[in-house]
Amino acid sequence: MSAVKLAIVYYSATGTVRSMAERLAATGTSAGAEVRLRQVTRRPSGGEEQATQAQQAEAGQGHEGVTSDDIVWADAVLFGSPTRYGNVAGQLKVFIDSLGSEWGQGLLADKVYAGFTSTSTQHGGQETTLLALYNTIYHFGGILVPPGYTDPSKFVDGNPYGVSHVAVESEPIGDVTTTALDHLVQRVVRIAGKLNG
Ligand SMILES: Cc1cc2nc3c(=O)[nH]c(=O)nc-3n(C[C@H](O)[C@H](O)[C@H](O)COP(=O)(O)O)c2cc1C
Repeated sequence: MSAVKLAIVYYSATGTVRSMAERLAATGTSAGAEVRLRQVTRRPSGGEEQATQAQQAEAGQGHEGVTSDDIVWADAVLFGSPTRYGNVAGQLKVFIDSLGSEWGQGLLADKVYAGFTSTSTQHGGQETTLLALYNTIYHFGGILVPPGYTDPSKFVDGNPYGVSHVAVESEPIGDVTTTALDHLVQRVVRIAGKLNG
């Protein structure tokens, strides 16, 4: 049986979602998946975010830019976005909206999908962001694999919709979020492996 092909596709302006994506990639690789870790590189219009991304690139913290081929290639896709007013960041949405041709050819269907997000406040829209992202997955004909409460650790991080983190300035993402990310990616790889047969 061939390895599950896992694409982790994220947008991050200040690094939290990037840290989450990197953890998913490391654990996904340990779980036996072939991983593509990709970022949305489109520059946001805000000058401050532009500067942040440029600094990250300079520090070698960026990852290869995502293309439609990464989604078509994958058996499973994890999308990550910071909350923007309780919604998916426009940068990730612009990438998703560029996939119309692949959608029209049915190339986005029958894959496993799930999401991860980050906010600056506890009730700042984590669940709404994930649910907004998942609207798209239904249109893809994707197979949503949310974590639910399928592990005791889910009663600790408390988000059955995906993985979410409340970012505290320059602090690492910490054990609760890391455990939730590990659980999500292990579950996604396991279920995508079953679908691969
Ligand atoms: C335009 C804008 C809108 C935001 N909206 C929210 C929001 O609705 N709720 C919230 O808690 N945080 C909000 N934030 C904060 C970010 O979602 C949060 O800092 C996130 O952790 C950043 O992730 P990143 O470090 O990967 O960029 C917003 C930030 C910006 C720039």
